Amino acid sequence: MKPNVVHNVDAVADYLAAQDSKGLLRFITCGSVDDGKSTLIGRLLFDSKLIFEDQLAALTRDSRKHGTVGDDIDFALLVDGLESEREQGITIDVAYRFFTTEARKFIVADTPGHEQYTRNMATGASNAELAVILVDARHGILPQTRRHSFIVSLVGIKHVVLAVNKIDLVDYSREAFDRIVSDYRDFAATLNFETLQPIPISARYGDNVMERSSATAWYTGPTLKEHLETVNVVDDHEARPFRLVVQWVNRPNLDFRGFSGTVATGTIKPGDNIVVAKSGQKSKIKAIVTYDGKLPAAFAGQAITLQLEDEIDISRGDVLAKPEERPEVADQFAAQLLWMQSGQALLPGRPYLFKCGAKIVTATVTELKYKVDINSFEHLAAKTVELNEVAVVNLALSEPIAFDSYEANHETGAFILIDRQSNHTVAAGMIQFALRRASNIHLQALDVGKNARAALNHQKPAILWFTGLSGAGKSTIANLVERKLHLAGHHTYLLDGDNVRHGLNRDLGFTDADRVENIRRVAETAKLFVDAGVIVLVSFISPFRAERRLARDLVEETEFVEIFVDTPLALAESRDPKGLYKKARSGEIKNFTGIDSPYELPETPELTLSTGDHTAEELADQVASYLRERGYIAS
Ligand code: ADX
Repeated sequence: MKPNVVHNVDAVADYLAAQDSKGLLRFITCGSVDDGKSTLIGRLLFDSKLIFEDQLAALTRDSRKHGTVGDDIDFALLVDGLESEREQGITIDVAYRFFTTEARKFIVADTPGHEQYTRNMATGASNAELAVILVDARHGILPQTRRHSFIVSLVGIKHVVLAVNKIDLVDYSREAFDRIVSDYRDFAATLNFETLQPIPISARYGDNVMERSSATAWYTGPTLKEHLETVNVVDDHEARPFRLVVQWVNRPNLDFRGFSGTVATGTIKPGDNIVVAKSGQKSKIKAIVTYDGKLPAAFAGQAITLQLEDEIDISRGDVLAKPEERPEVADQFAAQLLWMQSGQALLPGRPYLFKCGAKIVTATVTELKYKVDINSFEHLAAKTVELNEVAVVNLALSEPIAFDSYEANHETGAFILIDRQSNHTVAAGMIQFALRRASNIHLQALDVGKNARAALNHQKPAILWFTGLSGAGKSTIANLVERKLHLAGHHTYLLDGDNVRHGLNRDLGFTDADRVENIRRVAETAKLFVDAGVIVLVSFISPFRAERRLARDLVEETEFVEIFVDTPLALAESRDPKGLYKKARSGEIKNFTGIDSPYELPETPELTLSTGDHTAEELADQVASYLRERGYIAS
């Protein structure tokens, strides 16, 4: 063996060991478009010598092609990875970069500053310890700066650097810097940051980034590098209660059953008692298994597989904890929400998919308590929440989940909302606390059940849900169907939009939010009728798929019959029984379905009645035959 080889191997090992023992700081950069984020990150990477020669050559070429700084190297090109982004001149996705100095390792998430990309910013911020908030010295604090700072605080980041960039463009003016810092301190006073370090920098020329600038002799604070290397961001992940969200149940053969996931917080070792947070089932840790063999203990951040002493019921999404420090279990709680979907507002009452850890359930916002004004932090009354807005809400879930408050645990206290039709993530949320009403109201067991009531009626109860445009003929047909059923001795009830809107739903109009609530209430009412053993006919436009689905999900599968009264708009409009289309066309009525408010066609209705080809009487017969064939009523 050649000694120099051994020497090299040792050197490499030493180097790696040194890297390993260095602390790691995860931070994000945020700011408005053109504040110079990408340039700053490029500068950090470049000056910490982590750019390889070939990348440098490419960079020089690219700068000529796309760059915006003449013959100098454009550092922004280093990090604006995607070609399409370069062409648009904006950064779209979150990009993670790695660099290192003698003192620390760094992972930086480059998050976009463009108005509609708050989503990515929240993603990048969720596991960072520090945020570098860039401000253009010429422009000072902008609405974007406030919004980003607010999100940074919302996701629990406690350490902030206010990087006042382009200080060269204001002649290294101390007054300009002081004014911005003072503005920012006023604004950020209530954001609960533990450290706030303002630094005057020029990312383009490197002033106060890695090296102290002689042009800002008045500035006595640390350079950005010094601050990032020394700021104390101790995280106490290990000191907190043990939490592991089961990502998958690992069962390669009959002799092995393990539960895999990453330790979110705390520590665990063989012999420890364990509880499945939601079900309360208990066991003991038999072994902690990893790719590299068994471990004597595991800590926050480690991906492991747990083997237990007992065969207990655990599935994906379950939270494992220690019996003496269990998370809460509830199906209603208060939360903060950041709405991230453009062109589609949050509508209270609408069902969304709710994902916390690996668990997915359905959720609705039962109360929109207020929105937060990002400039004044005022609480604003609201009916909906739009893109980039933050709100405090109450949520109700379709079943209880195990969780912690976000403050106690970022992993088990954060969630996202997903739109059921598009599968888009529409909101990021942070759980505040469980609502006690959830645990204090218990369903009352009743002696006379649905089946008993229905048997007495000699029918199978169901919701006949008539949907279609205004003037489509829903009420006319529903009325005929009810008469037929009634004559045949069945117990029925007809809920009609126009009528219910005079009573129960008198307080509702025709905005999207009001229509959602309109349908939610009538669906719940219809469900009570089904429980009473009645065949209930519902005749509402019910223009949105999401709420028709909500109604469907309230009862058993065979108890919901969706009947699409299919009348083309032109035909309904030509009939115009109430003269409403005419008014809508002339602008006298706003938000009229089919005119300036959408009708989402049913995708898989049980029945489609085309009113162009048949009389109402014939269509009512079709419905009655359907009910006989499927055994809802006797033939
Ligand atoms: S829904 O969209 O919320 O389901 P619903 O069926 O309760 O509507 O009420 C619809 C009835 O309200 C229509 O048949 C019509 O008579 C009346 N109406 C008044 N304004 C509007 C409007 N802007 N859009 C639709 N219908 C309206």
